[in-house]
Amino acid sequence: MDKLLIQGGVPLSGDVAMSGAKNAALPILCACLLTNEPLRLKNLTQLNDIATMLRLIGQMGVTVTMEGNDSLILDAGGLNKPLAPYDMVKTMRASILVLGPLLARCGEARVSLPGGCAIGARPVDQHIKGLQAMGADIHVEQGYIQARATRLKGARIFTDMVTVTGTENLMMAATLAEGETIIENAAREPEVVDLANCLIAMGARISGAGGDRIVIQGVERLHGATHSIMPDRIETGTYLCAAAATGGEVRLTHTACDYLDAVIDKLREAGCEITCGPHEIWLKAPARLKAVSLRTEPYPAFPTDMQAQFMAINCVAEGTAIIRETIFENRFMHAVELIRLGANIRIDGSNAVVTGVPHLDGATVMATDLRASASLVIAGLVAQGETLIERIYHLDRGYERIEEKLSRLGASVRRVK
Ligand code: EPU
Repeated sequence: MDKLLIQGGVPLSGDVAMSGAKNAALPILCACLLTNEPLRLKNLTQLNDIATMLRLIGQMGVTVTMEGNDSLILDAGGLNKPLAPYDMVKTMRASILVLGPLLARCGEARVSLPGGCAIGARPVDQHIKGLQAMGADIHVEQGYIQARATRLKGARIFTDMVTVTGTENLMMAATLAEGETIIENAAREPEVVDLANCLIAMGARISGAGGDRIVIQGVERLHGATHSIMPDRIETGTYLCAAAATGGEVRLTHTACDYLDAVIDKLREAGCEITCGPHEIWLKAPARLKAVSLRTEPYPAFPTDMQAQFMAINCVAEGTAIIRETIFENRFMHAVELIRLGANIRIDGSNAVVTGVPHLDGATVMATDLRASASLVIAGLVAQGETLIERIYHLDRGYERIEEKLSRLGASVRRVK
């Protein structure tokens, strides 16, 4: 298993380009299942999760044609097997995103129930409830969601909580349903809007994406389209944190401050200078950051996917911060690893109290999930001496060529086998 070896203490500096958003790409790859015409996607990042999703839809009969490194054409004209097997779903929960499109296009789907997850139980009851409201006959048998519907019918759906992939699944299903679907309490995440834009380019009739009430008028069929995936706001936020924590100065390109208000606000509060260009962000960090408290909430508030990275920067900031995680019940796994590097963190239920220390010391630590891994990388970049991060397959799920990008910014980071 690969590990990441970091020699800490170098302030990051220079320019680096951000990749396309993983969490926009995953649902958009599933959108190809809704049509028998080709869907061309650009700015697709090369990540393990993307490869898993391509394998998953590939075994359903979708043809994938690569066009260079970050562009491809998906053709679901030959879709013949509406099945998502356990082996694939267990490695990537986002596989559940095939459920809505398969049911809408094929009238049936058999999708393994995702199991538990390192950051929380993460049930999919809202996905099922919404599809049932649209007339689907759904039951769970031998660990699989078995779904059938001759044609889905428009419905008014109210989700119990804000769910990102739930909103995406239901929005995709509703594009081919008969009549109007209204999703109330919809997720407002930018990735939902990117998916809606792709679906609209495919002929879907969707309004309100980006708000908490999305209205979809079902159509008989969707057609092919070309869509460019939005920049990854969480990758961008992670590199901003890495630069901030190391006292660096960087320019991130192929990205923008749009969608990062809550994160940029906190970085400014921590003492960073940030300038936003149309397709770039420049950050200059102070010699020492100030501690910043935060509370994770659905968009547009502070994202749970940036909580771990901010915990890392608070570890070396001046003062004490309180971090409250409200989205997932078990998303503080990185804290114990950060403590191994010398951090002062106390966990109390869904609160973490982080008191900054003057410096961290390198050690061997273990990555437990994607964003936890990112926080360990940031901590390793600041720590004195050498940090070895084990189980970095988590990182490879969500950060494209991370060691290469960090090296471009002057960090001493090496992948070891
Ligand atoms: N929830 C339910 N029932 C459902 C759906 C969700 O109880 O049917 C709960 C979850 O357990 C959680 C909360 O609702 O407590 C919110 O979960 P949500 O459904 O929004 O999460 P998700 O759609 O599974 C996406 C991202 C996550 C990100 C969350 C929150 C993708 C592929 N994944 O997950 O990304 O943390 O939204 O913003 O879009 C990551 O990239 O590292 C990552 C985990």
